[in-house]
Amino acid sequence: MNAPLKTSVQPVVRTNLDFKLHEIPRFWFADDPFLTRMFDALSLTFPDGERYFIQSVRLFRDQITDPDLKQRVADFIRQEAQHGMAHDKMNQLMRDQGMPVDDFIQRLNKIFNYDLKHRSAQFNIAVTAAAEHLTALMAETFYSHRHTLQDAHPYVRAMFAWHAIEEMEHRDVAFDVMKDVAKTPEFTRRAVLVSTTVLMFGFTIYRANIMLKHDGFSPRQRLYMNMRGLPWFFGKQGVLTRMGKQYRDWFKKDFHPNQHPVIAQYDVWVQTLEETGDPIQAGEAFWQAAKHAIGENKKPFT
Ligand SMILES: [Fe+2]
Ligand SMILES: [Fe+2]
Repeated sequence: MNAPLKTSVQPVVRTNLDFKLHEIPRFWFADDPFLTRMFDALSLTFPDGERYFIQSVRLFRDQITDPDLKQRVADFIRQEAQHGMAHDKMNQLMRDQGMPVDDFIQRLNKIFNYDLKHRSAQFNIAVTAAAEHLTALMAETFYSHRHTLQDAHPYVRAMFAWHAIEEMEHRDVAFDVMKDVAKTPEFTRRAVLVSTTVLMFGFTIYRANIMLKHDGFSPRQRLYMNMRGLPWFFGKQGVLTRMGKQYRDWFKKDFHPNQHPVIAQYDVWVQTLEETGDPIQAGEAFWQAAKHAIGENKKPFT
């Protein structure tokens, strides 16, 4: 009989991991511009997004009395700071390719700064907790089946794997601050997940299309790419659609992130990193250990 799945894992801060991102090709996912730019568009929001998460949690730092939560908040902040640094490297690659990364980031920061200045701390921590719900679910959906990322470059896949592992480790931290310290009203908590989801994926599609324009694709080509590629993410069997049930669990009154199991092959990543000290090998072993293809949605356009 298989061992029962874990429901919680402690954050571990890991620093200076090298994913050799300077060696990846321009279209690193299946040599496919659309898929690559969708992931790039998601990735480029992480550094500033994660710095915003840190700020929103810090608003409550002085009010946290529970020593365990205090420690987890400290680890959350350090982990997110590391993620920001790694994704900054990816942003530099995109800049070097002529992508308008700084325009995107400036606009994103306008939203974050507005929220921090004009909205309540309870609202901001709810945005962070909601975004953490989404990142933990993406960690699960991108890595639970091997076929999903089989055509992604192993170095980027390894970087996202490390990020996925740590998102699993700290997925309940902002949530616990929101629930136990901020005491965000239930209506706000629920509404904010909807708005955060719409903004996160709406902006991802928008930015991916701007990047494809900078890659030299015509409006007609981009329309075709969207029609073929968006179902891979959002279609009936899409990789993001697959997380529908777990996504909706958020709306239950007694929801807590630890009601969802931690990804099955979590220990494989941790052990491989321990044995090899190489985050690329850890990412590879983690991806290899996922379930086999489920027969559908094997590749985006087959
Ligand atoms: Fe992160
Ligand atoms: Fe996170």
